Amino acid sequence: MLKSHKEYSALVEEMIGHDRRYYDEAMPTISDQEYDRKMKQLIAYEKAHPEEIDPNSPAQRVAESPTEGFVQKNHLVPMYSLPNTYSEEEVGDFVKRVHKLLEKKEVAFCCELKMDGTAISLRYEEGKLVQALTRGNGKEGDDVTANIKTIHSIPLKLSGKVPKVMEVRGEVYLSLATFRSINAAREEEGLELFANPRNAAAGSLKLLDPREVAKRKLNIVTYGIAEGEATVKTQYEVHAFLKAAGLPTASPKHLAVVHDLVGIMRFAEKIHQEREDLPFEIDGMVVKVDELKAHEQLGHTGKVPRFAIAYKFAPLQAHTVIEEITVQVGRTGVLTPVAELKPVFLAGSTIARATLHNREEIARKDIRIKDTVIIEKGGDVIPKVVEVDLKKRPDGSKPWHMPKHCPVCNAAVVHLEGEVAVRCPNAKCGAQRVRRIIYFASKHAMDIEHMGEKVVEQLVEKGLVSRISDIYLLDEKKLAHLEGFKEKSIHNLLSSIETSRKCPLSRFLMGLGIKYVGTETAELLAEHAKNLDELLHMRAEDLTKIDGIGEKTAVAIAEFFKDEDNREEIKLLLKHGVHPQESAKKKISGHTFEGKVFVLTGTLASFSRDEAAEAIKERGGKVSGSVSKNTDYVLVGDEPGSKYEKAKELKIAVLDEEQFRKML
Ligand code: IVH
Repeated sequence: MLKSHKEYSALVEEMIGHDRRYYDEAMPTISDQEYDRKMKQLIAYEKAHPEEIDPNSPAQRVAESPTEGFVQKNHLVPMYSLPNTYSEEEVGDFVKRVHKLLEKKEVAFCCELKMDGTAISLRYEEGKLVQALTRGNGKEGDDVTANIKTIHSIPLKLSGKVPKVMEVRGEVYLSLATFRSINAAREEEGLELFANPRNAAAGSLKLLDPREVAKRKLNIVTYGIAEGEATVKTQYEVHAFLKAAGLPTASPKHLAVVHDLVGIMRFAEKIHQEREDLPFEIDGMVVKVDELKAHEQLGHTGKVPRFAIAYKFAPLQAHTVIEEITVQVGRTGVLTPVAELKPVFLAGSTIARATLHNREEIARKDIRIKDTVIIEKGGDVIPKVVEVDLKKRPDGSKPWHMPKHCPVCNAAVVHLEGEVAVRCPNAKCGAQRVRRIIYFASKHAMDIEHMGEKVVEQLVEKGLVSRISDIYLLDEKKLAHLEGFKEKSIHNLLSSIETSRKCPLSRFLMGLGIKYVGTETAELLAEHAKNLDELLHMRAEDLTKIDGIGEKTAVAIAEFFKDEDNREEIKLLLKHGVHPQESAKKKISGHTFEGKVFVLTGTLASFSRDEAAEAIKERGGKVSGSVSKNTDYVLVGDEPGSKYEKAKELKIAVLDEEQFRKML
């Protein structure tokens, strides 16, 4: 418990230091638990003394609970996009046009990197970050303030003398290293990969849960002031001004003031050469008239300014030969053709494979074995084949066709009407089985830690697991057969398997891999059907009555549960000790509320007293009628009574509804 403002300020400083060491220097000096404990102290103090809050306190970044969606708000100044070109000649035309319109012989241009992320507008009032909007349609964007606050390099309070109201423009992006680690984790979890850092950054900003956004480690760079009388006169000075205010800006070596096309091209050449070594993606450079007064003079045409242009660089490409086209079989039997390439070095890594997506893509681009192709990598983990170099096609080459039989189990493949995909219809196919087990164990299904793709592949290869229920028959002896598995890793895996036995029903349903059933539908199902047995007997008509489940999904679910093999698998899972937790009413063990004494006062917006008390008791807490030394938390609603005063007097942690929800 912090006792004075002095203690509070000292902890704010300390926590800013911890954040810096964790986020910028990757050298934390305290454990996560210790950090969380201190953070709770900050939060509690700020709650009790809102008038003393330091806007830069790390507690002010602590992610709020998920939202239902984003609210659209107007930009003070529209967010324009840039005219862009790949041609030097058109950059030359831009320079000439500017000279002509300004009626000047000498014009300075500021050259910058064109960061490949997603645009953001930050509004500061009295130096405090009050709003962050995406570009949206240029006039209004989504309010993503809570998500933006999780980016640690963004100051919540600006330093120095800044305009009263200031709207700053910039780009939110992901470093290549972070992008790769996000995708690696997604691959492990069986989730769809992000195509490139730009998509990953844009997708992350739109996550509904800021706590998830915080994990994505987004970056930002600011480059413009849209609103607010700054004291600077040139675009070049804008960067220095933003930097002095505490905002992240481009490195000075990636900025230049030049006076003609030759200067612009010199900068372009330098950046082009550096491009492959940059820790983030760029898709070109931006040339802006340096003098800000001239921006007003030049104005805009339609949606783009006349004072700037983006000179884009072609994506990184390489030539290589397709040595073979192989076919992969996914969890639901979809066949995906893959180009096995003559290994080629491109943008920092050796590339030996590229996805060919589906047979239509192959037919459209007329891709054949032994073709020389151009492959492209735009930060994408999986490079793509852009086009075939027809001049190099060997004589006698023939168009490629999807095999008529599954390459793994030899079943005749099917092509469902209205689908691009070709599927192996055999649910017992070895490849599908492996993918299903991987999916079952993945994070968004049963969340069996330490049981990623490689482990599952080994388990199946060694004959230790051939269906999902076999997971629950694994023991120390069996796991000792796995390569690299020692006492500790065996113990870790077994204990995650053990934990998963008591999974929520929704995760269990996810894990079964029912067609069209994602997290949301699985949760709906778990909520509506009281238990698994009931679900097993529901007909499609009953399922469509659940708000949010459509006809197609209902039919797929009913069919899944009617299938004898599926019923058998579920029976085995239950027999081997999996007990999906059917109702939220069950007591939740290990919760932070366990053994804690609560007192309730005032009216809560979204709980009745009884509901709040029930939620506390379910989690092992107690509810008492009066505040004493033994009280751990006082939950305070609107118009609280004397219990609130008593809590403050006894310095007992006070929770508002929002905090209570979060803790739940
Ligand atoms: S200036 C009116 N400068 O490129 C001028 N934009 O189409 C507004 N971008 O997504 C933009 N780096 O966020 C500017 N140094 C830079 C930039 C940059 C990336 C993005 C911008 C928007 C797109 C413009």
